[in-house]
Amino acid sequence: MTIRTYIPRRGHVSKRQAAAIADADGLLLPAGDEILDLGNIFAGLPVILEIGFGTGSATVAMAAADLGLGILAVDVHTPGLGDLLYRARENRLTNIRAIAGDALVVAEQMLPESVLAGIRTFFPDPWPKARHHKRRLVTPANAALLASRTQVGGFWHLATDWAPYAEQMQEVLDASRQWTGGVIPRPTDRPVTKYETTAIHQHRNINDLWYRRIKDS
Ligand SMILES: C[S@@+](CC[C@H](N)C(=O)[O-])C[C@H]1O[C@@H](n2cnc3c(N)ncnc32)[C@H](O)[C@@H]1O
Repeated sequence: MTIRTYIPRRGHVSKRQAAAIADADGLLLPAGDEILDLGNIFAGLPVILEIGFGTGSATVAMAAADLGLGILAVDVHTPGLGDLLYRARENRLTNIRAIAGDALVVAEQMLPESVLAGIRTFFPDPWPKARHHKRRLVTPANAALLASRTQVGGFWHLATDWAPYAEQMQEVLDASRQWTGGVIPRPTDRPVTKYETTAIHQHRNINDLWYRRIKDS
């Protein structure tokens, strides 16, 4: 059985979230196994995959700040999906599409090779217990899968509040022949995410990491 990076959970879905999910204006793309035509969906914009958007507040802020990028936002959490869709429409954004599902499955089954201009993964679940480390999103296999879907020159921007996970991210990506980079100062254009607010209150240090996709060697 494939190890998931999340535990499926049923959160309460409010009326507003349910209505946002039911709206059939095309912002929510169905999960499936057909390859997406991102050029058509995003009218030729460079496309960024965001893995695990949570409530989507940072996603919407970043999409509004750069209308020249298409954002494909993927998360498994239904209430957050409703929030993201509501916020995207409230801001009249046309450069966001969402998929409810496992971003790794979406990458594998729905994205062609070398299609992404970049990936954002802000505060992936840290899975601090040793017996849960296998659930972490940043592993050699997942780094290779995501590299295969990213154009040479594209980026992977990660952030975490969990220092040992920041170290693991560097170990995995530095050992990869497809990514190069490391820890960077916090980019001023990255909004504080909901999860990050809690981490800051609990006095945890935040690490941003920026990796660039290089040619396979
Ligand atoms: C700790 S939360 C951070 C959410 C948000 N980025 C923030 O900073 O507030 C991690 C999120 O990743 C999502 N997630 C975990 N594994 C995922 C996967 N394989 N595909 C998509 N989303 C995933 C979870 O459902 C959760 O919403």
